[in-house]
Amino acid sequence: MTQTLSQYLDAAKLPISPELNRLILAMAASCAELSDIIGTSSLNNLQGALDQENVQGEVQKKLDVLSNELFIQPERWHGTVAGIASEEMDTLIQVDAKGDYLLIFDPVDGSSNLDVNGTVGTIFSILDAPKTGADLTEADFLRPGSEQVAGGYVLYGPETQLVLTFGQGVAIFGYHRHKNDWFLIRDQVQIPVSTREFAINASNHRHWHPPVRRYIDECLAGKDGVRGTDFNMRWLASMVGDVHRVISRGGIFMYPSDTRPNVSNGKLRVLYEANPIAFLIEQAGGAAINGPDRILDQMPGKLHQRTSVILGSREEVERVQSYFREA
Ligand code: AHG
Ligand code: MN
Ligand code: MN
Repeated sequence: MTQTLSQYLDAAKLPISPELNRLILAMAASCAELSDIIGTSSLNNLQGALDQENVQGEVQKKLDVLSNELFIQPERWHGTVAGIASEEMDTLIQVDAKGDYLLIFDPVDGSSNLDVNGTVGTIFSILDAPKTGADLTEADFLRPGSEQVAGGYVLYGPETQLVLTFGQGVAIFGYHRHKNDWFLIRDQVQIPVSTREFAINASNHRHWHPPVRRYIDECLAGKDGVRGTDFNMRWLASMVGDVHRVISRGGIFMYPSDTRPNVSNGKLRVLYEANPIAFLIEQAGGAAINGPDRILDQMPGKLHQRTSVILGSREEVERVQSYFREA
């Protein structure tokens, strides 16, 4: 077998502190636990929804809540994490005043897939904690994505995989259940610059803004249209799953804002979803925008802020960006 995650983190070429090293290992161990819980969820009566909503008005699944409870156990992060913000919590929680980092996550992404045994994931983002010694406030988490010190996701698919960046390229690890360890699969992953495959929830076509409609309509026209070539389409309804395909073989993923009142700023969240995924995509040579502008340059105004998301193979993302700038 190849390098373990721990061996990879110890390699001198990475600019990471011993605390960040421990934090990543703790995140990977927590996700390995969650992988086992998800992998036996029907057998343990852990599927289905609870009769409650999160702060964003979304019905919570049993596993949304259970996974969040798993990730916020303070003993996991002792000496590394000062505070946590999660998609499933109203506000931040303080963890360890001596921690150097802020941990931000979407514990289960794509949770509508849980009940159909489809792909889901965990997305995480890590920022430097302020060194003031004062209690944390929400404002401490409101940093542009370009300031992330690490970002990644774990995909609970046929194989459980960790995709990770520290701003020096992207590496993919596979979780070996019997050995209870993570092993390097690919390092310095690069997304193909060109693609002929798009991912968008096309049932929202009538709600899209003109630049999105123009781009997708041109793809759909295929060989007979201005693009002069046929396109393929995929949509898993799990950002982690769709993004993993883009990272693996190229493509463009879009969840744009549209004319529906509850999607006027997009559906995906800046801190828990867009920033860490945009960090990975850029580190793999792709591009990530909100329409006219780069996602990682956005300054979030609140913890649960949403954003339009368009990312993947550089040529196609730049084409969509030019349509937004012309409009
Ligand atoms: P979450 O399960 O964390 O709420 O995120 C679901 C997101 C994302 O993973 C996916 O791309 C998108 O919602 C799917 O939305 P639609 O059901 O509107 O297609
Ligand atoms: Mn999500
Ligand atoms: Mn979620």
